Amino acid sequence: MLEADGIVLVSPEYNYGISGVLKNAIDWLSRMTPQPFAAKPVALFGASMGVLGTARAQYQLRQTLVFLDGRPVNKPEVMIAQAQNKFADGKLTDEATGKLLADLGAALALACRQARAAAAVK
Ligand SMILES: Cc1cc2nc3c(=O)[nH]c(=O)nc-3n(C[C@H](O)[C@H](O)[C@H](O)COP(=O)(O)O)c2cc1C
Repeated sequence: MLEADGIVLVSPEYNYGISGVLKNAIDWLSRMTPQPFAAKPVALFGASMGVLGTARAQYQLRQTLVFLDGRPVNKPEVMIAQAQNKFADGKLTDEATGKLLADLGAALALACRQARAAAAVK
């Protein structure tokens, strides 16, 4: 993870928050030296069967990333609502969601290139 240019965090939403397993993993990683989230671009997305598509969980993740000094990609926000209607046989079938995910990937790649360029001039 330390060598990674960027990180992708994906979570369902449980009781308006991220999964306990993901939080536990982040908490353990945060105690490493050097702290692996510091200054690292992070793309977030999630899917749920509700209408907000993990919006609340993702904002909880963004809050945690403040302390970790991560660099979450701000746009596009990818909150896959009513996921039960957007996948078939485990594969994404919703074209608009596919486009959003591609845009998020491109935004993360750009953030990684910018972070690398900034590190090179230090
Ligand atoms: C304990 C529990 C809490 C949940 N809380 C939320 C929630 O706050 N918001 C939401 O959109 N979905 C919620 N869900 C639905 C899950 O996000 C998910 O869509 C559903 O559980 C199906 O995925 P799974 O088979 O991985 O559990 C909850 C599910 C569980 C089991």
